[in-house]
Amino acid sequence: MKYEFDKLIDRKEHHSAKWNEMGNKFGTNDLIPMWIADMDFKTAPEIIEAMKEKLEHGVFGYVNRTDEYYKTACNWLKKRHGWDVSTENITYSPGVVPALSIIIQEFTKPGDKIIIQSPVYYPFFNVIEENNREIVLNPLKETERGYYEMDYEDLISKIDDAKFLILCNPHNPVGRVWKKQELKKLGKICFARGVKVISDEIHSDLIFKENKHVPFASLGKEFEENTITCFAPTKTFNIAGLYSSFIVFPNSKDKDIFEEALGRIDLKRNNPFSLVATMAAYEKGEPWLDELLVYLEENIDYMIEYIKENIPKIKVRKPEGTYLVWLDFRDYAFSKDELGRKMIEEAKIAFDDGLWFGNEGEGFQRINVACPRVMIEDVLKRLETVFK
Ligand SMILES: Cc1ncc(COP(=O)(O)O)c(C=O)c1O
Repeated sequence: MKYEFDKLIDRKEHHSAKWNEMGNKFGTNDLIPMWIADMDFKTAPEIIEAMKEKLEHGVFGYVNRTDEYYKTACNWLKKRHGWDVSTENITYSPGVVPALSIIIQEFTKPGDKIIIQSPVYYPFFNVIEENNREIVLNPLKETERGYYEMDYEDLISKIDDAKFLILCNPHNPVGRVWKKQELKKLGKICFARGVKVISDEIHSDLIFKENKHVPFASLGKEFEENTITCFAPTKTFNIAGLYSSFIVFPNSKDKDIFEEALGRIDLKRNNPFSLVATMAAYEKGEPWLDELLVYLEENIDYMIEYIKENIPKIKVRKPEGTYLVWLDFRDYAFSKDELGRKMIEEAKIAFDDGLWFGNEGEGFQRINVACPRVMIEDVLKRLETVFK
């Protein structure tokens, strides 16, 4: 491999949320951090180079995005996902979660219903509740052990009066890369009832062999006209701390509404580093990403093999995408809080507790495998000691 994904890099002395905020979240920092979705790898050298150039320039005033900025993102979408997006309809947001919140504020009213498909990325719950909108749960169906599908019948029974559905495509935490037919069926149900879709596609570049990311809005005119898509280079290239994401609207009118809202709180500009890093990522980062995907998939395969052989009571299914894996401890039949307690006090591992993703997550833990393999080996040994 050209890039050093195996190299352990100290992050403890470098203001890392993942490594230094465990005390707040889990009550102790003496854990191996496999939670929060960022990677323990250095980003692509081309991105670091672009940032160095900016650093050496030494002037860090307000920055101006040109059309070129959006073109690099649109070219990426076209090349990696076969999706044509006009620069007229795309804009910047510091992050996907703030964008979800602003979209909810601008395009719905207090009390409006918004559908989410649990177990799902927990800030989806927060952005709805904290904006005084109502959550409608359309839980995924586990059709085989560890394999989840959308529950269309349940959706039809609950969809009336809802304004939006927030789709997680690919899905965090269950690792599904939704197929074209599944998305088409979802769109048909939503659009026939006047429900629009916000498609969070932040994990769309992290897809494993045999699977293909399908941008929801790319599925035809009706999809394009009724979908707001969020994507970013931040998960893909491990630059989440730089704050940079993109939002694609059906038309420039809706885009203007969003931009005005960002303008009101004066968050409409990139910082100089996020600007150059984003452009370098999309223009030059592809070889790094392709190697990263090989490394991540090997981490996952290694982990699954190890668990099958040595701790078979833990059930695990290979995700189709994302570097997050949904570990199933239900066969141990622990009481609700016991599993999380065992992880922290006995195994000394910080996972995202399944319950954070909704009640459907009871008995699960989510592991982030975007780290050097020695960390995965360490975690597996800890799990084996406690759960064998
Ligand atoms: C589905 C999903 N959306 C959004 C985010 C975070 O996005 P941002 O950091 O741009 O707010 C994450 C991070 O884990 C995620 O998994």
